[in-house]
Amino acid sequence: MGKHLIVGASGQLGIELMLGLQQRYGVDAVLLSDVRPSPHPEAAKSMFIAADATDLDAQRAILEGHDVEVVYNLVAMLSAKGEVNPMAAWSLNMDPLLHTLELAREGRVKRVFWPSSIAVFGADASKDGTPQNAALLPTTIYGVSKAAGELWCKYYHDKFGVDVRSIRYPGLIGFRSMPGGGTTDYAVDAFHCAQAGQPLTCYLDENERLPMMSMHDAVRGTMELMEAPSECIRIRTSYNLSGCDFTPCELTRALQQRVPGFDTVYAPDHRQEIAASWPNSLDDSDARRDWGWSPRHDFQGLVAHVLDGLTQQSRVDKPVVNM
Ligand code: SER
Repeated sequence: MGKHLIVGASGQLGIELMLGLQQRYGVDAVLLSDVRPSPHPEAAKSMFIAADATDLDAQRAILEGHDVEVVYNLVAMLSAKGEVNPMAAWSLNMDPLLHTLELAREGRVKRVFWPSSIAVFGADASKDGTPQNAALLPTTIYGVSKAAGELWCKYYHDKFGVDVRSIRYPGLIGFRSMPGGGTTDYAVDAFHCAQAGQPLTCYLDENERLPMMSMHDAVRGTMELMEAPSECIRIRTSYNLSGCDFTPCELTRALQQRVPGFDTVYAPDHRQEIAASWPNSLDDSDARRDWGWSPRHDFQGLVAHVLDGLTQQSRVDKPVVNM
């Protein structure tokens, strides 16, 4: 059995996926790579390779030097940050993906995971239970690059037989790492504010509903997708995946039940427009049918899980990693 290589291992999802893969396959089966060192203490247990994901030769050298079975290429500039420098976002979101697909075509790795996003949908898609095959007319460069990347994945699969698999993640909420530059980040911030006894200043409208998922479910779903037999994977663009959905107002009320005194102040900015163009919730019946996806955390379950995780973490004096 070859190793599991995470490219972009020092980011929000990279850290959580590292912990999931280490637990599932053992620390020696996990290889980490990023341009910056991992800030998480558990990263020291697996091999870390400093490398630029936009450099094809550097990525090839990693695969030549190690027996890698699966690459999880998580490198991305998220929606809000991408709007500040669209050309940089396009390059960062596309070049590493194309390098990984090329290296897979050369036979240097057996399976590839690449994350897509709810950002592939635009305001024209039906809002509630957005179907798998809704038209993709994204409004952000992040969404444009994810929609294009999905088509590259399908092209490499159909043309060259590359076993590439993907998930359209909703907003991901965990307690072990912080996001940066996204539109759904407010929800993670809300938990940290509640935990710290501070109010949240929310940049979205109080009634802006977005699809969300606990990191626990996202990491489990990713590992289940990658373990499924290839013939089950009928969608080679990217799977809709649903966890739960809520508004900032609903999250505030749920947090108040556990942390009395917590409150949110609303100051919507440009990110509200991005959020308004995204679905309220997704139809994930294809993922359920093809590889048995089922979320464990509903809204209340997610709130309890993340708050408990933060509390436990602060007791054992393990600081949350700030990105
Ligand atoms: N969490 C991402 C963002 O907010 C969406 O996939 O940009």
